[in-house]
Amino acid sequence: MYRIGQEEVDEVAKVLLSKQWMRGGDPAAGHLQEVERFEAEWAETLGVSYVLLMNGGGTAGIVCALAALGIGPGDEVIVPAYTWLATATSVLTVGAIPVLAEVDESLGLDPEDFERKLGPRVKAVIPVHMAGRPANLARILEVAHAHDIKVVEDSCQCDGGSYQGRRTGSWGDAGAFSLNYYKIISCGEGGVLVTNDRELYERAFIFHDPGAGFRRDANQRATPLFVAQQYRASEIMGAIARIQLQRLEGILADLRRHQRRIITELAGQPGLRLAPSNDPEGDCGVVVAWQFDSEDDARTFAAAAPGGYIGIDHGKHVFTNWDALIERRVMHHPAMNPFNFEANQGARADYSPEVCPRTLDLLRRTYFYAIDPDWTEEEVAARIETLAAAGKAVA
Ligand SMILES: Cc1ncc(COP(=O)(O)O)c(C=O)c1O
Repeated sequence: MYRIGQEEVDEVAKVLLSKQWMRGGDPAAGHLQEVERFEAEWAETLGVSYVLLMNGGGTAGIVCALAALGIGPGDEVIVPAYTWLATATSVLTVGAIPVLAEVDESLGLDPEDFERKLGPRVKAVIPVHMAGRPANLARILEVAHAHDIKVVEDSCQCDGGSYQGRRTGSWGDAGAFSLNYYKIISCGEGGVLVTNDRELYERAFIFHDPGAGFRRDANQRATPLFVAQQYRASEIMGAIARIQLQRLEGILADLRRHQRRIITELAGQPGLRLAPSNDPEGDCGVVVAWQFDSEDDARTFAAAAPGGYIGIDHGKHVFTNWDALIERRVMHHPAMNPFNFEANQGARADYSPEVCPRTLDLLRRTYFYAIDPDWTEEEVAARIETLAAAGKAVA
């Protein structure tokens, strides 16, 4: 989260004093409708029909999307080998098996490896827009549509980003966003699901709220209720999310301005090669990613220009660090561990380093330099000087 001010405090105070903290109360009785207003505003921003703000983060968004699509035991879901581990564990939460695919130089899902990894059990794919950088959606969607595979975009690190002029998250059957503390905007542990599919929305709504049958619009839903989870957002979250959304375009503009200045002023600098981008205009500007010929070069550069991270050091974003998943420690009871399900026997549950060697190689050679939207122009200039000097060390 980059920015917060008195506005969030004031809006939260209003909700607290209204004493109506749950979503969906009666406006005539003083209910402020913060969650529903946020959902309408996010739908407008993204150009989608349905939005669901929820507690439980972007993880809940992905889980609800998969559940709403009917993904479950016997199914495989393709996930990139470079993503926060929740992308993969969400697949296990609904009882299916995550199958890893490589990322390409853009650090997004490699569409060609996605296609190679297709098999009779694959029902869905989760392209991830890592570090605010859109994945190659055009080619991923082409492959997915050709094989009747559902697409759930993980846009958790790409709040407000876009691809070919349209927002990430709005391209697939569903999209998930994170509003956790580390994201471009935040409301605590918020997550958002978006879709244009009415049935998917209804199923996701029911899955996220055991009280779905009591909501004001319950009689507008055609889908019968089923027993589900509790990811319902509070009005307090909704109030913060609404103000944060008002800050989004300003934050993105500042991130992008700094990112572009760094890229432009270092263009042609020997030793520095940008990781290719699938859409420089839609990139959120959260990082500048450089790729080097070797891990040694990447580390030499990083040491001389601190303020970022080498991909392979990115903890649980690297599939070789997903210990619990690798060791198949899932759920609280063996009979609820998807790896033990009869329907999942024969699924490709291989998480060894050999499955995605190219991803590991790229991550060893990629340095992600983090941008702060609140840098002054002088601070950016000083950083460019440091980066240029660091580049000379590896040229
Ligand atoms: C790529 C990615 N997917 C999913 C998530 C899950 O989001 P949350 O922590 O809000 O559940 C995150 C959060 O860091 C993420 O970075």
